[in-house]
Amino acid sequence: MDLTQYVTTVENWPKDGISFKDITTIMDNGPAFKYAVDKIVEFAKEVGADVIVGPEARGFIIGCPVAYALEIGFAPVRKEGKLPREVVRVEYGLEYGQDVLTMHMDAIKPGQKVLIVDDLLATGGTVDATIQLIEKLGGIVAGCAFIIELQELEGRNKIGNYPVKTLIEY
Ligand code: PRP
Repeated sequence: MDLTQYVTTVENWPKDGISFKDITTIMDNGPAFKYAVDKIVEFAKEVGADVIVGPEARGFIIGCPVAYALEIGFAPVRKEGKLPREVVRVEYGLEYGQDVLTMHMDAIKPGQKVLIVDDLLATGGTVDATIQLIEKLGGIVAGCAFIIELQELEGRNKIGNYPVKTLIEY
């Protein structure tokens, strides 16, 4: 299946000069959404993930069905002030802004193999911060999977040698 046809590009949103890739038009098409999730499930099996981690908010939408399909856990990465218990925190840079990401201290057990799942790899700031959070908790990053990669922003440079799967590249 060519997933590209289900992505909607929105020019100058949320700011002038940003060409936003909207995945809601993948999600609202049952076969396209299932195809995208299934591809990431295959990758999760290849890398031997035993927990899925996804950054809010769109990482939840893709990461949770992957975890469900594999019958493994899902741990959320959230912006500061959203998680109710003790957290680890990392500051990060976005394609358009600056923020802090957090995870619960007990979200990952030391030695667990973690697959990071998100909708989009842009500058790599989010995945870089997520890798740092997982490693602070003693987890092993087994790989990173994204529906979309914006190659010109060179986010892969932030991922180093971890295995990466992307379904659509621009
Ligand atoms: C978007 C996207 C990724 C991140 C990618 O999330 O869903 O998580 O940006 O950009 P980066 O590679 O430059 O870090 P956003 O922070 O907009 O949050 P949202 O999903 O809650 O809208």
